[in-house]
Amino acid sequence: MSKVIRIGIAGAGRGRSFQTSLKAFGGAAELTAICDIDEQLLSQWSQGDSKVATYHDFDRMLADDVCDAVVIATPMQIHARQSIAALRAGKHVLCEVPACLSDREGRDLISAAKASSATYMMAENYCFSRAHMVVEEMVNRGVFGELSYVEGMYVHDCRSLFFKPDGSLTWRGEVHGKVAGNTYPTHSFGPIARWLGIGKQDAMESVYAISTPAVGLADFARRMYGDDHPGAKPGAWAHGDSAACLVKTRLGRVVMLRLDIASSRPHHMSIHELQGTRAVHRKTHGHRDMGLIWIEGRSPGVVLPPSEKMGVYYEAGAEWEPISKYADEFEHALWRQWGPKAAESGHGGGDLIITAEFIRAIQERVRPSIDVYDAVTWSSIVWLSAESERTGQAVAAIDYTSL
Ligand SMILES: NC(=O)c1ccc[n+]([C@@H]2O[C@H](COP(=O)([O-])OP(=O)(O)OC[C@H]3O[C@@H](n4cnc5c(N)ncnc54)[C@H](O)[C@@H]3O)[C@@H](O)[C@H]2O)c1
Repeated sequence: MSKVIRIGIAGAGRGRSFQTSLKAFGGAAELTAICDIDEQLLSQWSQGDSKVATYHDFDRMLADDVCDAVVIATPMQIHARQSIAALRAGKHVLCEVPACLSDREGRDLISAAKASSATYMMAENYCFSRAHMVVEEMVNRGVFGELSYVEGMYVHDCRSLFFKPDGSLTWRGEVHGKVAGNTYPTHSFGPIARWLGIGKQDAMESVYAISTPAVGLADFARRMYGDDHPGAKPGAWAHGDSAACLVKTRLGRVVMLRLDIASSRPHHMSIHELQGTRAVHRKTHGHRDMGLIWIEGRSPGVVLPPSEKMGVYYEAGAEWEPISKYADEFEHALWRQWGPKAAESGHGGGDLIITAEFIRAIQERVRPSIDVYDAVTWSSIVWLSAESERTGQAVAAIDYTSL
């Protein structure tokens, strides 16, 4: 029987959902340490669990022999630094998204992962929601035919998370103030990368990005804190409200991404469309909505042969169906294994499965489902989109798998 994996978590926000997920793996993994620089949060978080060691210093947690693996759920500006430190200390790493914010950080992270015998995995939970996994299974079984076009959008009004009550900026506000382009691409791009086989049969080739001005965020800052707030001034934010970007792949596929975390609107965290030669999928209402599908030959509507008669449509009578109709038939193996437990976890079940996959990779000493090359490649949309916005040109993608 494998040794129980001792886990330390850093970051009391998102870290708490990993704490919940870990309860499903008693016997395989246990929470032994938690770390946060906010002493008050740390003591609230650790209450009732005297066996868990508490730290306000991440490096100290690494130095003490309290954990074999760390979950990094701290602000994205320190993901790469903490991941590298943990890998150097021989700890397995499950790191929140994005993995890193610059090409330099990405290269350093890959070097550290290559030099370490520990496992590195990025915690891109959106890949593992039931809806995305059913689509993945359909892709793998050829239902879509050849894939041509994909859309992924993360549209989530996070403006209240950008400011502290006194109007100063949180880490999210700092990122929006300083970094242009698409700073949070992996929720959209992760599932897409798995559908297209990015890093396998296909690769990113170039990125072209444009953004709107940050009018929604400036308007919010003005209404909340007055005209004199720095965020209310023109040019205060490097990041636009809506950041759009097009990724061209080596096989010629087109991926359209949109990030908008600063506009006034209801939650729409996971919007995707996938077009193939034989089927199309569209999902517009977040995680609990599995979305729609039309499959040639199975869904209503027929493909007509060429006709001289005007007004006869090629896809006569084609109608969308709920993809849930096909979910049992195309259930992914991971959902067959974890379904009942995953269904109760956050982000469409992805929160539990990402943790399960991390534990499996450590126990079986296999490549994790989202390894360091995937992590850096998917995260590279952050700096490639910023560079494209700066130059007004499409920017060549970087083949991190060759490092
Ligand atoms: N995968 C998902 O679905 C998902 C959802 C939310 C957030 N996230 C990601 O998770 C990360 C955390 O987001 P959040 O919403 O929990 O933010 P948050 O601000 O609520 O929590 C971050 C925590 O990290 C702590 N912290 C800051 N610096 C630290 C350090 N050096 N060492 C230890 N702790 C430190 C802060 O005190 C805070 O408690 C971000 O990278 C975010 O992008 C992912």
